[in-house]
Amino acid sequence: MINVLFSAQPKSWAEYEAPLRAAFTKAGIDAQLGTEFDPADVDYIVYAPSGPVSDFTPFTKLKAVLSLWAGVETMVDNPTLKVPLCRMVDHGLTESMVEWVTGHVLRYHLGMDKFLSGQDGVWRAGTAAPLARDRKVCVLGLGALGAACAQALVQLNFRVHGWARSPKQVEGVTCHHGADGLDAALSDADMVALLLPDTPATENVLNARSIALMRRGSFVVNPGRGPLVDDDALIAALDSGQLAHATLDVFRVEPLPENHPFWAHPKVTVTPHIAAETKATTASEVIAENIRRGEGDEPLLHVVDRAAGY
Ligand code: NDP
Ligand code: OXD
Repeated sequence: MINVLFSAQPKSWAEYEAPLRAAFTKAGIDAQLGTEFDPADVDYIVYAPSGPVSDFTPFTKLKAVLSLWAGVETMVDNPTLKVPLCRMVDHGLTESMVEWVTGHVLRYHLGMDKFLSGQDGVWRAGTAAPLARDRKVCVLGLGALGAACAQALVQLNFRVHGWARSPKQVEGVTCHHGADGLDAALSDADMVALLLPDTPATENVLNARSIALMRRGSFVVNPGRGPLVDDDALIAALDSGQLAHATLDVFRVEPLPENHPFWAHPKVTVTPHIAAETKATTASEVIAENIRRGEGDEPLLHVVDRAAGY
C-alpha cells in the first residue's frame, strides 16, 4: 500500500477525490489517498502551488511530485524538492486551450469585436474578412499545448508558423527554432499566440523589437504566462497602432491589480487565467499512470527538466 498526499486548494479536493480514486482503481493501484499524512509516510504528492506544501524536506520517502499544473515556474527552483517533478499534460487541458486560442484567433480574424460593440445604425459595407489562408499566425511554443493549437489553426486554413527551443516537425506548420528562428516566425505575422513556459530564457520574448517584426495592426493572444510579454512595450505598440488589440489571460501579478493599465486600455481584453483548466477526470488518469509507472520499472511521464525550467 502506498500513500498519496493531495496538496492543493481545499476546494480542489472535492473535485478530485472521486476521479483520483476511480483512476487508481482502474490502473490497479493500491493506495491510501488523503489530504493529511505523516510526511515521513508519503510516497507521492499530487501537487498545486496554491496548496499547503512548499517545504518538501519532511517527506523523506517521497518518490515523485505530480503537478496538477502545466506551468511549473513556481516549483522548479524549490531547493527542498529532490525527487522528480512531473508537470501536467492532460488532454482535457489541451482541448480547452485549443478551443480558447482558436476562438480568439477567429474573433480577431473575423473582426467580431467591431460588430459586437458597434450596433450603431451604420452599415459598414466592404468589411468582410480575408480568407484564413491569407493570414499568418505565429505560435510561440510548440509543446503539448502550442503544437495542438498550431494544428487546429492549420485545420482552419491559417498559414501557421511555430517556434520552439529545439527543431520540431508539426504537420502543416512552418517550424522555427532557437534564438535565430524567432524573427522568421514572427516576421509579418498577423497574430501571435504565446504558449511558452515562464523561464529566464523566455522572459520578455515579446518586446519592442520582436513586436516590430509583426505586421502593422496585428494581434496578440497570451495564454502562456505574464512575464513572456514586456508590458510597457505592449502598451506602446497598442498606442502607436503597431498592434491592433491584445487578449491577455496571464499576468506578472495575478489577480491583475485593479489599477493596472490593462484593465482600462481600449485595445486590451483581460481574462482571469481561465484559458484552459486541468480537468479532474482526465488529469486523474495521468496521475494514476505516473504512479503505476513509478511503482514499476517504467520511466515517469512529463518529467520537468529543472535546469531548463520547464
Ligand atoms: P511544454 O513544455 O509542452 O511546451 C513548451 C514549449 O515551449 C516547447 O515547445 C519548448 O520547446 C518551448 N520553449 C521553451 N523554452 C523556449 C525557448 N527558450 N525558446 C523557444 N522555445 C522554448 O508546455 P505546454 O505546451 O504544456 O504549456 C505551455 C505553457 O502554457 C505552460 O508552461 C503554462 O505557462 C501555460 N499554460 C497556461 C494555461 C492557462 O490557462 N492560461 C493553462 C496551462 C498552461 P521544446 O519543444 O524545444 O522543448
Ligand atoms: C497551468 C495553468 O499551468 O493553469 O496548468 O496555468
